[in-house]
Amino acid sequence: MKELKIFGIVAIFTLVLYWGVEPFAHSQMHKHVEGEHLAYSDLKETPKGDATKGEALASACIGCHSINVKNMPAPMDAVASAAAYGVNPPDLSFAGAMLDEKFFAHFLLNPAEVTKSKHFAMPPSAGSIQDAADIVAYFKSIAPKEISPKEGFEFACGRCHANRYAKWTQIGTVPKTKANITTGVDLDALEFKKNLGMYQNALAKYMGKLPPDLSIIIRSRSEHFLETLIENPQSQLPGTAMPRVGLNKEGMEKVMTYLEETGDPSKPLREDIGWKVILFFIIFTILAYLWKKSMWKGHH
Ligand code: HEC
Ligand code: HEC
Repeated sequence: MKELKIFGIVAIFTLVLYWGVEPFAHSQMHKHVEGEHLAYSDLKETPKGDATKGEALASACIGCHSINVKNMPAPMDAVASAAAYGVNPPDLSFAGAMLDEKFFAHFLLNPAEVTKSKHFAMPPSAGSIQDAADIVAYFKSIAPKEISPKEGFEFACGRCHANRYAKWTQIGTVPKTKANITTGVDLDALEFKKNLGMYQNALAKYMGKLPPDLSIIIRSRSEHFLETLIENPQSQLPGTAMPRVGLNKEGMEKVMTYLEETGDPSKPLREDIGWKVILFFIIFTILAYLWKKSMWKGHH
């Protein structure tokens, strides 16, 4: 009976600590931002778009962007783009699937205001909200059905953020190179480093600082923090240069999955093992209890 009481006290104490104190301390350390579940309620609904008209209008985009699914290359490489704009305009193959429709259309009319980042380098690129809706309809029609978390991240975040664990840099995945056998000099690796350095210098100048590496962000920040930050960076970091990128639900899922897979690759294994450990303890407790009972039989 005494053991049971002690157990009860320990259990209650642990629960109070876990449910009461920890979340409380957490809420004191980070301002809690509710978020709006990707509603973008500051933006008005947009008219229905016509993809055929949008295709013609989208020819204006390839002056700066590539559209790989349509075999349209970028006019400049990442380093030259960063020298011109401060950042490499993302490939637009996945834009129609990753971005909220309403956000995307208003974004084309007024990029700086809609991203809430004062100096967004893209100029307004649609003449009217109808034109914008047509362009969005076109990009929705060309986006592939299957987009990997990696592709989603690269489109939405990869021009600004590296991910060391995934070997991702702002100018692409670190290439496998070989050193010269006699000299030990790896010119290709040095070339890549130099290009990355030039890109990062231009990006840091444009953003005011180098955006942080995101390889372990999923461990240091909660999923809720990340989602509300991505939905509206100004809500967590007032005055930040990071733009609101306007992801829709699928887009957000891709990005979060990528951050989880690269930053916490053992999570699925841990989750799988968790219930087995609990089951083990339950069985162990029952066996221990039965054993104790049988040992004490006849001693009272
Ligand atoms: C003069 C060059 C230029 C033109 C023309 C241009 N863009 Fe951009 N675009 C950029 C740059 C630069 C960025 C990245 C800016 C940044 O991240 O600060 C960008 C970013 C974007 C993004 C990412 C937005 C986000 O979610 O963060 C989309 C989508 C996009 N452009 C679509 C388009 C479309 C569609 C067109 C044509 C109708 C177009 N752009 C025309 C330069 C251009
Ligand atoms: C145009 C560049 C740009 C894009 C695109 C961008 N970011 Fe950022 N991000 C920044 C900058 C700059 C900072 C540093 C912000 C600051 O300190 O004010 C930042 C900061 C962050 C932080 C750190 C917040 C903190 O203080 O812990 C996270 C997390 C983050 N970004 C995630 C993302 C994700 C995820 C995406 C894609 C959905 C993304 N960012 C897209 C520029 C960008």
